[in-house]
Amino acid sequence: DPRRDLAGKHVVITAGGTREPLDPVRFLGNRSSGKQGVALAQAALARGAWVTLIAANLEVPAPASADVRRVGTALELDAAVTDAAAHADVVIMAAAVADYRPAAVRADKIKKDDTGDSLLLELTRNPDILAGLAAAGRPGRLLIGFAAETEPDADRLLALGRTKMARKGCDFLVLNRVGWTEGFASDRNEITVLDRRGDIVCEASGSKLSVAERILDLIV
Ligand code: PMT
Repeated sequence: DPRRDLAGKHVVITAGGTREPLDPVRFLGNRSSGKQGVALAQAALARGAWVTLIAANLEVPAPASADVRRVGTALELDAAVTDAAAHADVVIMAAAVADYRPAAVRADKIKKDDTGDSLLLELTRNPDILAGLAAAGRPGRLLIGFAAETEPDADRLLALGRTKMARKGCDFLVLNRVGWTEGFASDRNEITVLDRRGDIVCEASGSKLSVAERILDLIV
């Protein structure tokens, strides 16, 4: 690839979906496959970056030349990304992170003989990793968040993205619609990137790799 425009840069990317254990055999998860995060890693590697991929339960192979750190839960992802981000030039948070985890993890399998016809789960809020990284920001380090929303209306989707940008405080926010067939797992994506002021700086659709290239163009 002639564009070695990320040569010498350390790019940290989170990919996949976290899983929060309930007991030794079950978890609360989401449908992220890791394709978008892995596409970002592939594109960044091709452009000469040194890539640390924080991989949460990927359904696709991780690029061989990335420094891959496997994680399961949101708390593990938090620890891994905080560690890697300390020396990074760019951090891209494409993983789907659980906002809540079971308040207690049972030591033994939950049995329906014990719980009966309904089962109430108590959940505890996970830390907001992206907002935490933004608050502890370091000059010169770019922080890119994603926003996954199901809102069908384009104007309302944009408003949700702007609200999320204001809450997270990252440098760019990549807004994408998700649903039963959109965003998660599919090979395509449609993105709107917002800057800190909430202004649209890029709109792109196509393969997850082509969308990744557009995000990296902005970062460069
Ligand atoms: O993996 P694929 O199947 O290819 O699908 C790609 C994708 C749809 C998962 C991806 O493009 C995407 O949108 N990732 C972000 C999913 C998500 O968690 O979105 P969110 O709107 O819930 O979170 C907003 C941002 O905060 C994200 O950058 C997320 O990583 C981060 N976050 C969320 C919760 C939390 N406790 N801590 C966080 O840091």
